[in-house]
Amino acid sequence: MIMDGNGRWAKKRHLPRVAGHARGVKRVRDIVEFCIARDIRYLTLFAFSTENWKRPVDEVNHLMGLFVSALENEVSKLHKNGIRLRIIGDLHPFNPRLQALIASAEARTAGNNRLTLTIAANYGGQWDIQRAFAGWMKARQAAGLAVTEQVKPEDIDLKPYLAMAYAPDPDLVIRTGGEQRISNFLLWQSAYAELYFTDTLWPAFGAAEMDQALVWYAQRERRFGQTSQQVQAVAR
Ligand code: IPE
Ligand code: IPE
Ligand code: MG
Repeated sequence: MIMDGNGRWAKKRHLPRVAGHARGVKRVRDIVEFCIARDIRYLTLFAFSTENWKRPVDEVNHLMGLFVSALENEVSKLHKNGIRLRIIGDLHPFNPRLQALIASAEARTAGNNRLTLTIAANYGGQWDIQRAFAGWMKARQAAGLAVTEQVKPEDIDLKPYLAMAYAPDPDLVIRTGGEQRISNFLLWQSAYAELYFTDTLWPAFGAAEMDQALVWYAQRERRFGQTSQQVQAVAR
């Protein structure tokens, strides 16, 4: 879920941008409930990109504050509902309090399996791939194998080193807010995702809009490179 359009939602109402972010947090609650009710097992929310540091410092600070208060207020409820919380992204630049909250929320909910809710914070698909490659290289060296020009590209298996190695690749990527771009979300993992773009701004995206996206998704034929005929032969 690329949750875009908070600022524009607020602007339309002559409110400060941060009012849009606050409303956006409420929508997260609704969509999490929706996923539980509909037995969706993985929900990944893009909350802050590696590029979002370029925003005015006040807005960045406010977003960090919202993240802290959401963790403080929501984790018990998530845990009660059987939700496993994971945060992906480079967490090092976050303040120590936020890092500690993240670690404790992940540890507390680690045993849950009804829904895996992943928040991408200071996440970038390019960062993810670079980090995975570094992880792959380290593991290879630890196994006593050299990383030289002899390595064949097809031998570089990055999947286990990507930030979401614990989850299947996304089936559906939804972007609210009208833009039709990925903005550095799950670049590797979205290779075969269905892409759904809606003009609805994130603070206005609720259960009805989510339902519409799923109806649209259900109509897609996922061919993964094959022909329609091949896919239908297997389905029959
Ligand atoms: C998405 O809404 C939230 C974040 C990127 C943190 P925006 O803040 O990007 O809202 P618009 O795109 O300016 O309307
Ligand atoms: C994408 O929204 C990132 C998140 C939703 C966190 P942006 O508002 O940052 O995207 P761009 O800059 O318009 O592509
Ligand atoms: Mg935006």
